[in-house]
Amino acid sequence: MFGAIARRLVTSGALLLAALLTVDAAENDDDLPDLADQIAQMASEVALELQQVCSPASPSDEAAFDRCRRSLFGDSALRRSLAPRLLWGRRNQDAGAALKDTNLTQFAPDVIAGLYLSLFMYSGEYSIEYVERERLYVMRLRAGFRNLLAPGNFPYPFWHDEAKWGVYQAANSVLLWVNPKTAKIVIGQFTERGNGSPVVSTQPIRPKFDGKWMWTDKEGRIQPRVTLFDGLFRQDNPYLQKLDVTYRTLALRMRDAQCDSCHVPNNPWKMRRLVLMHTPAHAAGEIARLMAAVREDRMPLDDSGIEQLLDPALKRALLESGGAFEESVKAAKEWEGAHRD
Ligand code: HEC
Repeated sequence: MFGAIARRLVTSGALLLAALLTVDAAENDDDLPDLADQIAQMASEVALELQQVCSPASPSDEAAFDRCRRSLFGDSALRRSLAPRLLWGRRNQDAGAALKDTNLTQFAPDVIAGLYLSLFMYSGEYSIEYVERERLYVMRLRAGFRNLLAPGNFPYPFWHDEAKWGVYQAANSVLLWVNPKTAKIVIGQFTERGNGSPVVSTQPIRPKFDGKWMWTDKEGRIQPRVTLFDGLFRQDNPYLQKLDVTYRTLALRMRDAQCDSCHVPNNPWKMRRLVLMHTPAHAAGEIARLMAAVREDRMPLDDSGIEQLLDPALKRALLESGGAFEESVKAAKEWEGAHRD
């Protein structure tokens, strides 16, 4: 009760709030008011960091993008402020729609920081307010989108969906929703309907989608490169090769088990909270859950949405290849942690 009132006051009167806190602190073990301060502090740190490492540049500037994603993927204030599992997506076109009625995709923190939030540039301008209906704070950051990067810099061809790509290209704001009880960011959204113009103006483009989420480029490299941790993990990480090989085997087994008839970006099953596993980076973020779901026979589902029992040999093969991939991910991440510059 008090928490809700206090939160509403935060935006209007910090002094009044401080006075209320001293009175209430003793009998209220709900420490929401403290977190209001923490959230304000976090928001200002994150906005400053984004402005410093992902500042406005040309929307085609790959060096600027690489600097941004490497910084955010590493030990950044942003990454430290992310919940263990987040949702990401477009602001609902119906401005009145609640978050629970908005289709969003689930992501691990390193994936959202390194592959998604880094596709935007930030001026450092932001506001923060408590939104009663959602029971969350929202931080609105003025932003712009790097729409002119080479295709392999996007986690998948966003242009498979013209409307979604249109909103990405015209985005002027990134919204970060913050849980008042944990002070962690739980949802990220982008919109073209925020205040002001995008931080950099750009020409919209319309690339063609050829139906492939991953592809091989003219030089024989697998794309999108960002999903192979290219530029995120160090080039001399000794586990890169193993990561690649073990993912390929897992991807084949997932195809045998039909996982990719549902867990792909065009979301054929219209999941409200889509889980993606169709690239090494996406699968790395979900591997623990993937293993559990298969082990416990919760996945795959059949066409009617009922658990479908896998052939025992396929289940074994899926768990074996998933286990090998999981180990490579762990080893690669541990090596990075020990070799940070
Ligand atoms: C027919 C569509 C379909 C297929 C095929 C499918 N899934 Fe799912 N999956 C879903 C839906 C729908 C959900 C959300 C389910 C829920 O309500 O929890 C989901 C959720 C998940 C989740 C997150 C929830 C959890 O249980 O942890 C994981 C992980 C997952 N699926 C893995 C897989 C794997 C691995 C395969 C292949 C072996 C697979 N799925 C095949 C539709 C599918």
